[in-house]
Amino acid sequence: MRRPKVSIIGAGNIGGECARSIAMKQLADVVLLDIPDKVGVAQGKALDIACCAPIERFDATVKGTSDYADIAGSDVVVVTAGVPRKPGQSRDDLIGINTGIVKSVGENIKKHAPNAIVIVVSNPLDAMVYVMWKVTGFAPSRIIGQAGALDVARFREFLALKLGCSVEDITALLLGGHGDDMVPLPRFTSVSGIPIQQLLSDAVIDECVQRAKVGGGEIVKLMGTSAWYAPSAGTVQMVEAIIRDKKRIIPSAAYCEDEYGVAPGHKGKGLFVGVPCVLGDKGVEKIVQIQMTADEKKLMDESISHVRDLVAVVQRMFPEMA
Ligand code: APR
Repeated sequence: MRRPKVSIIGAGNIGGECARSIAMKQLADVVLLDIPDKVGVAQGKALDIACCAPIERFDATVKGTSDYADIAGSDVVVVTAGVPRKPGQSRDDLIGINTGIVKSVGENIKKHAPNAIVIVVSNPLDAMVYVMWKVTGFAPSRIIGQAGALDVARFREFLALKLGCSVEDITALLLGGHGDDMVPLPRFTSVSGIPIQQLLSDAVIDECVQRAKVGGGEIVKLMGTSAWYAPSAGTVQMVEAIIRDKKRIIPSAAYCEDEYGVAPGHKGKGLFVGVPCVLGDKGVEKIVQIQMTADEKKLMDESISHVRDLVAVVQRMFPEMA
């Protein structure tokens, strides 16, 4: 039986950790690709990860390269190419440089891995997923952004710290764009089925919500660059759902038109927004629609409008992406 194949574009902090985790979980053979100037880094990381195999006991090949021909036949391509944040920068500040990078990566994916499902990680996420969709012309169900998996993990971790309970027992939901205006939903958050509002005060829940929103920035301030362990963990959770066809419901940036009132009735004019998605081997197999209160809807609308503004910036830079 052929082993699945996952290619990772960008062999930096997130790309390297994704490669290690995918190999360790024996999800797929991995190709780690970077620009020619960084091919040594891609090859070195690949070799280092491969040498973990006898200790960690996995059978998966890991290949470092700068040649896009090596991504042919990939089931999933993960895109982590681009520059990360520095202290004082927002994700949106990266739009100028990362749009050009993601555009060139997308052109190569279209050429060399035309049947792949693409998970975009590069920031500003919601705009970069849109760029990938426009450049590849792939069905929107095959283009997904990683954001909610990470944001929910942060929210769950901060709640668990307050509760002194296992994170495993906390399930939570968080929607909207991958920015400081993301929309955590305490009403859909529970601990082993017990609504979170019965366990923590509104003030403490709000504290966790705020920390989840700026959790990425907190780490940038500490390290001088953006996080990679949890972003990779979130990405690999999505890769696993797809490769193993698990039909997991994971909040992800998915293409919405009528869904969540993003662009009702405007065919082809939708946006990629964080929504609960069923992820399986066809990519986004379903977007789950939830009933929101007026307050929640207002926050979601504001977040969608922020994503729309970001995409407008991209369209001004590259009119062909309108
Ligand atoms: N093709 C392939 N790789 C590229 C390209 C390109 N055109 N341009 C840049 N890269 C590579 C860089 O050479 C670098 O190795 O992308 C890698 C990015 O790695 P890091 O700088 O370590 O950044 P990382 O922390 O991994 O974040 C990557 O994900 O979450 C986002 O905001 C983050 O946009 C950033 C991206």
